[in-house]
Amino acid sequence: MKTFYVTTPIYYVNSLPHLGHLYTMIVADAVARRKRQQGIETFFLTGTDEHGIAIERAAERNHRTPKEQADYVVGYYKKMTDAFGLDTAHGGYDIFMRTTAPFHYAGVSEFWRRMAKAKTPKGREALYKGHYEGWFCAACAAYKTEDEYAPPANAEEPPTCLIHETKLDRVSYFFRLSDYDEALLGLYESRPDFVQPEARRNEVRSFVRGGLQDLSVSRVNTSVRWGIPVPGDPQHTMYVWFEALTNYITAIGFGNEQQQRAVGFEKFWPALHLVGKDILRFHAVYWPAFLMAAGVEQPRAIVAHGMWVDPDGRKMSKTLGNTIELDVLNKYFSIDAIRYFCLREMVFGQDGRFGYEALIDRANSDLASGLGNLSSRTLTMIQRYCAGRVPSGNISEEARLSAKRAGVDSDAATISSVVEHARDEVIRHFDNFAFSRALEEAWAIVAHVDKMISEAKPWGLAKDESQKQTLGAVLYRAAEALRWLCVLLYPVMPNSTSGIYQQLGLIGDPSRLDPARLKWGELAEGTQIGEVQPLFPRIDKVRTMAQIIGERGGFGVDTTEVDAAPDGGAGSSPTVREGVQLASEDDAAKNESGDGLIDITDFAKVELRVGEVLTAERIPKADKLLLITVDIGEEKPRQILAGIAQYYEPEQLIGRKIVVVANLKPRKLESQGMLLAASVGEEGKPVIATFAEDVPNGARLK
Ligand code: MSP
Repeated sequence: MKTFYVTTPIYYVNSLPHLGHLYTMIVADAVARRKRQQGIETFFLTGTDEHGIAIERAAERNHRTPKEQADYVVGYYKKMTDAFGLDTAHGGYDIFMRTTAPFHYAGVSEFWRRMAKAKTPKGREALYKGHYEGWFCAACAAYKTEDEYAPPANAEEPPTCLIHETKLDRVSYFFRLSDYDEALLGLYESRPDFVQPEARRNEVRSFVRGGLQDLSVSRVNTSVRWGIPVPGDPQHTMYVWFEALTNYITAIGFGNEQQQRAVGFEKFWPALHLVGKDILRFHAVYWPAFLMAAGVEQPRAIVAHGMWVDPDGRKMSKTLGNTIELDVLNKYFSIDAIRYFCLREMVFGQDGRFGYEALIDRANSDLASGLGNLSSRTLTMIQRYCAGRVPSGNISEEARLSAKRAGVDSDAATISSVVEHARDEVIRHFDNFAFSRALEEAWAIVAHVDKMISEAKPWGLAKDESQKQTLGAVLYRAAEALRWLCVLLYPVMPNSTSGIYQQLGLIGDPSRLDPARLKWGELAEGTQIGEVQPLFPRIDKVRTMAQIIGERGGFGVDTTEVDAAPDGGAGSSPTVREGVQLASEDDAAKNESGDGLIDITDFAKVELRVGEVLTAERIPKADKLLLITVDIGEEKPRQILAGIAQYYEPEQLIGRKIVVVANLKPRKLESQGMLLAASVGEEGKPVIATFAEDVPNGARLK
C-alpha cells in the first residue's frame, strides 16, 4: 500500500501560538486529507520543540521549570488543535511530537552516534570537537567579535552579547558542513522539486554556492542545561536545531523501538516537510547534510510558504499588537471559513495579508453568497419542486425543444465537461501547493452552476407542467455539481462539505472519495435529500469587528482603531477628535477661498438624512460604543457605531429621530454612517441632534 508522510515544523514552547503557527497545520491537514481521499495511508506530524536556552528563559520569567513551561504551552496547543479540528479525534494529525519524549532522546542519541562515526564526502570526520575559541551568541546564532560583546566583570565569567545582553557560549562539537556543498548542490540538481517553490530553491542554491561554514552542534551544559546530552560526553548538550530536526525521524521510529513498533520508519519515511520560509535554510541545507552523514534517505521535498503580515503589510508581532490570536479566531469564525481564507488568500510561497475584515468579506462573498447560497437554493428547490427527491437529469426527445426554449442544453455533456475540466485543474493546482488557484477553479464551478440556474429560472419552469423534465435536468445538474464540489473541497473545508453531502441525502462523508474517480451522473435519481440548513451564515461585519476590537483591549487604545469608528466617539472624546478633523478640513477650505467659507456645492456634498433608531445595544468589552440600527428610508436599516455609550442608555435611543451623515466614506470598521451630535463642555459630552416635529425617515436635511 502507498504511504505518505507530511510534517509541520515543531513549534517553540516559549510563547503561545498565533495564526502563523496554525497556518502550516492547516496546510498540512488539507494535504493529509487529500492523500487520505486517494486511499493513501498517511501520517501527519506536528508538535513542539521544547529544549534550548529560549525556553529555559521563558520558563524562568514565568516562574516555571522548563518542563512545566512546555506542558503549559502544549496544553494550549492541544486545546486549539481540538477547537480547530486539527487533532487526531477530528481526523487531523497522527502524532503531536514532543522533543521531551524519552523515545526522542533515544532516537537522537542514535542519530548523533551515527554521525560521529561518519566521514564527509571529502573523507573527513563529519563531527569533530572544535578548538574554536570564539564566543557564540545562541540568540543571534552567530559568533561575536570583540567589538560585539561586553567583557565580563570578572575573568571567570563569559562576556555578554551586546544585542541580547545574554552570556555568550564557547561551542564544542562541530558538524563539518563545509564539506557538503557539492553533495548538496548535486542533490538540488538531481531533484528539481526537492525544494519548492522554484524561487526558494534558487535562494537555497545560491546560499550553498556562496560557501558553507561548519556548524556548531552542541553547547557546554553550563550555558544550556535544558537539552539532550551528547552521547558519551554529558558535559555538552545538543544544539537545539540539530535535535529538533531529527524529530521528523525519531517520531516514526528511527533509533527507538517504541515508535518503530507504533508507526514504522521504513513504512513512512521520506517525509514532505512544510515550513515557513524563515526556517528554510535549516530544513533545506542543514537537515539534508545531517541525513547524508547519518546515511539516512533524503526527505521527499521541502516546501516553504510565505509569512502572514497584517493588512498594512507589516510583520505580525506582539509589540505591534497586530498578531491574529487563535482564541479570537475561534470565537468569531467557523473552522472552515478560516481554513478557506488561509488557503485562498495566500498565494503559496509569497507573503499574505491577514485581516479580520478581509476574512469576513471572503466568508460573506465566497462562502455565504457563493457556495452556501448555491447549495441552499439548489436543495430548497429540490425540496419544493421535486418533493425532496433528486430528479432525473435526462431530457427526452420530445422535451428537447421546450428545454432549448428555456435556455437549457438538452445534452448534459456540456456541463459535465466544464465540471470535469475544473476538477482536473483543482487537483493539478492543489498538488502543486497552488491552493489559491485550486480554489479559484473550484469557484468557477460555483459561478457556472449559478449562471445556469439564473438563466433557466427553475421557479418559472416549475409553473409549466410541460417543462417538468427541463426543471428536473437543471436541478439534477446543480445537485450533481454540488456533490462534486463536496468531494473536491473536502480537504479544505471538511465540516461544511460533509454537511452539504449529508443534505444531498448521501451517506457518509467525502473523506474517502478520490475526486479523480468521480463520474458525472453517479448521483442517483430519487435520492431523498436531507434537511436543508444554512452552512455559512453571513457574518455581521460591523458588529463582529466591533466585538473583535473590544476583545483586543477596547477602543481608544490604538489610534488606528479610534480612526476605525467614523462616529468620532471611539475612545478619545468627540470634541477632540472632531475638532482635529474639522480644523484640518477648515484649513483646506481656507486655502482655497481664503475666508474659511464653503460653497453651497461643498455643503451639498454632505448627505444628511433623518433616521429613526430601531435598535441599540452595547458591545461587550468596547465600553464606549453603542451599535445602533437606523432606518433612513432605505431598503435596509443602516448599522452605525456611535461612541456615546457613556452618555446614553441604549433604551433611551430606540424610536428617536436623529440626523445621520449618510454618505461618509467608511473607514476601517465600515460603520455605515455617522450620527450628528453637539459636543458640549470640556469633556465633549455628546448631545444627539433631534427634531421637535415629526419628520419622515430618510428626509434630507438641506
Ligand atoms: N522550533 C522551530 C522549528 C523547528 S522544526 C524542526 C521554529 N518554531 S517557531 O514556533 O518559531 O515557528 C514555527 C513556524 O511558524 C515557522 O515555520 C514559521 O515560519 C511559522 N510562522 C511564525 N510566524 C508566522 C507568520 N506570521 N506567518 C506564517 N508563518 C509563520 O521555528
